[in-house]
Amino acid sequence: MRRVLAGLLAAVTSAGLMTCGVTASAVADAPVTVVSSTFEDGTAQSWGARGGVATTVSAAAAHGGTRSLLVTNRTQTWEGPQLDLLDQVEQGTRYGMSVWVRLAEGEQPTRLRLSIERRTGDGTSYERVAGDSDVTADGWVNLTGSYTLASNADHLAAYVEGSSATASFHVDDFTLSYVPLPPIQTDIPALRDVVPFRHFGAAVEPAQLHGEHARLLERHFSSVTPGNQLKWDATEPSEGVFRFTDADTVVAWAKAHGKAIRGHTLVWHQQTPAWVFKDAAGADMTATPENKALLLSRVEAHIRAVVGRYGDDIGVWDVVNEVVDEGQPDGLRRSKWFEITGLDYIRTAFRVAHEVAPTATLVINDYNTNVPAKRDKLHDLVAGLLAEGVPIGAVGHQMHVNVQWPSAAETEEMITRFLPLGVDQQITEMDVSVYTDSGQSYPATPPAEVLLAQADRYRDLVAVFARHRDAISSVTLWGLADDDTWLDAFPVTRKDHPLLFDTRLRAKDAYWALVDPGRVGTVLPSATCEIAYETTARWPGNFLGSVRVTNPGPTPIDSWELAWTYAGDQRLTQLWNGVHTQTGASVSVRNASWNAAIPVGESRSFGFLGTGNEVNGNPTAFTLNNAVCRRT
Ligand code: XIL
Repeated sequence: MRRVLAGLLAAVTSAGLMTCGVTASAVADAPVTVVSSTFEDGTAQSWGARGGVATTVSAAAAHGGTRSLLVTNRTQTWEGPQLDLLDQVEQGTRYGMSVWVRLAEGEQPTRLRLSIERRTGDGTSYERVAGDSDVTADGWVNLTGSYTLASNADHLAAYVEGSSATASFHVDDFTLSYVPLPPIQTDIPALRDVVPFRHFGAAVEPAQLHGEHARLLERHFSSVTPGNQLKWDATEPSEGVFRFTDADTVVAWAKAHGKAIRGHTLVWHQQTPAWVFKDAAGADMTATPENKALLLSRVEAHIRAVVGRYGDDIGVWDVVNEVVDEGQPDGLRRSKWFEITGLDYIRTAFRVAHEVAPTATLVINDYNTNVPAKRDKLHDLVAGLLAEGVPIGAVGHQMHVNVQWPSAAETEEMITRFLPLGVDQQITEMDVSVYTDSGQSYPATPPAEVLLAQADRYRDLVAVFARHRDAISSVTLWGLADDDTWLDAFPVTRKDHPLLFDTRLRAKDAYWALVDPGRVGTVLPSATCEIAYETTARWPGNFLGSVRVTNPGPTPIDSWELAWTYAGDQRLTQLWNGVHTQTGASVSVRNASWNAAIPVGESRSFGFLGTGNEVNGNPTAFTLNNAVCRRT
């Protein structure tokens, strides 16, 4: 019965497709599968060996169909199967990648992961797509994640490796796919024209300088901060060996598009390579006069090279980042920098930066500067250094805040506290998390009221900055849109939505809060699911239908429950590739065990038979895991 229906379904669907008009948005939201490896033709389908392994097509286990690729003869954890993707992957496009894995018969449980190896003139990088997952010989496990190629590569390959050096395993049903982004909205005001600040900026990664992301950046922002590319680990990974390729990419884009650039950051306790704090003999530095002299000479050399490279192109530098700790009686963070040099690393950093870039604005940047205790410690530090003649030009307030915190009043005091010092102030890394503690997680789109609270927070805090526009030269957001934010990994791993544009780059309520508050509340968040519902055949009192659920990203879906309501007396009598329940007119369909995961850019379909009056029409509203879906 199932086979007959499925056959009928396929015939009706393909006939339907030929006659159906396809709208522009359906094209934008339809997934495109770039690579699919099923091994059903009995060949390895371009998969090869990473290291000395053997790869053979095997009928001993299959995820779909009757064959998979079996990997044996492993002797190193990094060995496994690999697939060259250089000609398939386009810069700046976010791809979903998915593969099913299972240990060979008789192997003990271990862990496997999916990664990308990328080689450029600068060296080789290993980028994790799906982290370690427990695998056994008893069942298939899906490794899935997303990947964006930031810049040109000479070699690009996906590979599976494991915690065990020897375990043999099967891989099957690999896919590389993406859902094209729709064009950005061009009928809405540019933020940089609307806000009253000299500069309105965004932190970006090189991958965002392509396609629709680049168009969004170009349109709305007047300043660009490289999110990671100017940090010490990026620019001087080993002593005296400078690497500027990625920073140059961002700087060149910004210059070509007439954007200002904020240089972030010269001295920080994070993302600083270990060698910086090793003494002349290679041991961890202790606080000795020799080590202090060595460390200060390294700061000096580093700043001369990095600031010197960009000359007038970079007009603002975050010279020191996060040096205050209000928990210390003296308010100074006990970093390696401080332990070995006291306050001198700050003095040296500002002095050298000023010598190399005399007209640049030099910033002392920190987070939680609204918290009164921290604010006051920072204030006293800056006042003291200014009195000594240290060339601090601005105080940077990061403003990593959330939907409930801080209040406008506290934010106002943050600004006014520094006014008497007569230095510039900049909002350097603003984002507004939808979470108020690390235990929360919204599996799909955040609830509407949370997005409204976020809009209110943006409106109230930016209004404070606007009142002090004479003292605040720039406001920068830490990211471009919700499809890519550092808060997805900080302080815990979960999807966050802290910016003004959503995961499909559409303006959110938070955007309208800054542009036209009257429109707040009118925005439907971009769907995290796309639904195609079709009645494929009808006969009196009965119908046959199918639903395709697509995941447009940015996060893989682990399991799903789709709900809709019929307008009339339709009742589902049978459903395949899912498990349904119906109460009155409300239908809910849960995934079957074999189609629970929907990698980014992929679809899952199910079909059904029903009774009822077809004149009632098809349902139009769907939710997936309680989030509203778009129909395609
Ligand atoms: C973040 C980046 O955005 C991430 O990609 C990176 O993994 C960690 O650092 N405060 C800062 C920024 O000053 O440099 C940090 O950027 C976010 C917090």
